[in-house]
Amino acid sequence: MAKIALNWSAVLLAVCVLVQLAGSALAWSAFGHSAVASVARVYLRPSTLEKVLTTLKATNDTSLESVAPWADTIRDKYPDTMGLHFIPNIDAPHQGKCFFDVVKDCVNDKCVYAAINNEIKAIRNTTASATAKSEATKFLIHFVGDLHQPLHATSFLKGGNTLPITFGLNATTGAPLKTNLHSSWDFHLPNKTVTKLHGGSTDKWIDSIVHRIGTEWRQQVPAWLKCPTEADQCVRGVESLKKHVCPVTWARESDAINCEHVFKDADFSKTIDEVQRNVTVTDAGLVDVSDKYWEAVHDVIDLQIARAGVRLAATLEATFN
Ligand SMILES: *[C@@H]1O[C@H](CO)[C@@H](O)[C@H](O)[C@H]1NC(C)=O
Ligand SMILES: *[C@@H]1O[C@H](CO)[C@@H](O)[C@H](O)[C@H]1NC(C)=O
Ligand SMILES: *[C@@H]1O[C@H](CO)[C@@H](O)[C@H](O)[C@H]1NC(C)=O
Ligand SMILES: *[C@@H]1O[C@H](CO)[C@@H](O)[C@H](O)[C@H]1NC(C)=O
Ligand SMILES: *[C@@H]1O[C@H](CO)[C@@H](O)[C@H](O)[C@H]1NC(C)=O
Ligand SMILES: [Zn+2]
Repeated sequence: MAKIALNWSAVLLAVCVLVQLAGSALAWSAFGHSAVASVARVYLRPSTLEKVLTTLKATNDTSLESVAPWADTIRDKYPDTMGLHFIPNIDAPHQGKCFFDVVKDCVNDKCVYAAINNEIKAIRNTTASATAKSEATKFLIHFVGDLHQPLHATSFLKGGNTLPITFGLNATTGAPLKTNLHSSWDFHLPNKTVTKLHGGSTDKWIDSIVHRIGTEWRQQVPAWLKCPTEADQCVRGVESLKKHVCPVTWARESDAINCEHVFKDADFSKTIDEVQRNVTVTDAGLVDVSDKYWEAVHDVIDLQIARAGVRLAATLEATFN
């Protein structure tokens, strides 16, 4: 249980209100998505939270945290949603080239920023069923999180899924723990942050992120919520959302992190070359990302969780009011 200063109005108006955080987080991975939801809840006005929870009742759901990972668990039930968790752009982040074409890389709205727009519209559709609105809310909460995981904003090497790395040692076998770059950003890197810096408590991790939003990042927060005026950056067709909700802008920022950190803070060139040449990747040459790389990127991960949480709060405020 944690007491958190600030609520949504604090972000825009610098008004502090104490909000009681009900014991949070389930275990990007489930605990990452739930953390984004926890951060968002801190900034939501109680009346808006009430509206969201009322909507979620249609599917017997009771909290933002518990529904946040849901979209990853129903991929078999809804195969059409598989392509909505990321952007299918093939750029070259290892060569400092991070970009996507807002139209060509999102054919038939099959990408995460279009999905966010469409879930917002589904929630605001007055003739949609209560169940459809609840599911759209669950997708929205999830996709705002996904978009802020940089490796969901590029499909280079399938978003790092086909780039093998190691993450320290397997505690059981003592051998290097082999995984891939995408999984390390989804799970292993934030897991190490929770373990090493917050005594294994996701609540303490979330509290520290909220604290930093109110202190060291406070000056940046207005910029997190400021949208450019260009049409393609905005939520199409929902005029009232244009000011603070701009998934395309957030996606560009997320992909830029691939060039600035994800592929830059370690030299993956040997493995990338082997993967691209389709030769057998030798375990001996794998980069380990559990130590120096974690040191370099863990603050970036916390920052992305913070941005995602604050923006999710803004998105829910604009969508439900
Ligand atoms: C919600 O729970 C009620 C009572 O247990 C049940 O009748 C209903 O089918 C459930 N609805 C859904 C969507 O699971
Ligand atoms: C709103 O929902 C109804 C019922 O599912 C659907 O037929 C209609 O196309 C939706 N409208 C929009 C604008 O998506
Ligand atoms: C560690 O190795 C064991 C035995 O091979 C395996 O079952 C387990 O999944 C590995 N742990 C991780 C975290 O990869
Ligand atoms: C982090 O990983 C350890 C070891 O696998 C696990 O025991 C712990 O529950 C994980 N923490 C989170 C927040 O997932
Ligand atoms: C590697 O394999 C993929 C898929 O099988 C293929 O598309 C690609 O052209 C191959 N690359 C090289 C350099 O052979
Ligand atoms: Zn996802």
